Amino acid sequence: MTSKLPDFFYQIFDPALPRLGPGDTASTMRALRSFTEHSPSSADRELRVLDVGCGNGTPTLLLARHLNASILAVDNHQPYLDELLRRAQTAHVSDRISVLLADMADLQLEDETFDLIWSEGALSIMGFREGLQVMRSLLKPNGALAVTEIVWLTPEPPPEAHGFLTAQCPLMTGVPSNLKMIADCGFDILDHFTLPDSSWLFEYFAPLEMKLRELRAAGDYGAEETAIINSVEAEIALFRKYQGSYGYEFFVMKNPPNS
Ligand SMILES: C[S@@+](CC[C@H](N)C(=O)[O-])C[C@H]1O[C@@H](n2cnc3c(N)ncnc32)[C@H](O)[C@@H]1O
Repeated sequence: MTSKLPDFFYQIFDPALPRLGPGDTASTMRALRSFTEHSPSSADRELRVLDVGCGNGTPTLLLARHLNASILAVDNHQPYLDELLRRAQTAHVSDRISVLLADMADLQLEDETFDLIWSEGALSIMGFREGLQVMRSLLKPNGALAVTEIVWLTPEPPPEAHGFLTAQCPLMTGVPSNLKMIADCGFDILDHFTLPDSSWLFEYFAPLEMKLRELRAAGDYGAEETAIINSVEAEIALFRKYQGSYGYEFFVMKNPPNS
């Protein structure tokens, strides 16, 4: 199933943007090191890796460069997958990446297939707990899952931020509750850390704001387009106002052996 978001949404979240959500190379590499340190045999064979909600593939390409792996990259928007394949060719890693246009909630992949599942900024679309359960069934025993998830970083979130974000992510909670869900779903946690604010402000928002300025300058828009621009701008302003109250947490976890 492909996405049903309005076309104008994808004019803002253009496949040519450097990335489609908060993140940065150092954080992806730290999470990747947590995986390789806890999976010493991972260097001896070709790994099967799944990237869920890969977008235009910034994290996917890093995985391809640093792992001996065959990577299946899944998204529900074909232009992102096309861009990922173009970037993979430029980076000379296209032989390691295949793409699948699919809904992450209906992947129709065989259980216990993957050594590593990656998902930056996307698993909350399914709901964190449900996402963990679905991904765990796709992992081999001893396989690992690395995800970023939006979290409250304070026990009492500011009401304005709480209202705005729970409208978008009703199940958003704090790091301790997420760690409990991870344990409840049968995973062992390997590492977790908060993405730096720069991964929002510089890596994600700065190019997105340029895109918004370009679109605003390009013409008069109707009510639907204006509402979409306003809501993306409001999201950026909210983070600037309340950074430190919420953020993305990288969670790296492992399926126990023979689970
Ligand atoms: C915040 S972006 C993250 C993209 C990429 N992982 C990154 O870090 O740059 C979320 C991605 O999930 C994809 N997505 C949204 N809903 C999806 C679904 N139901 N199934 C598969 N992908 C989905 C979007 O198209 C988008 O590319």
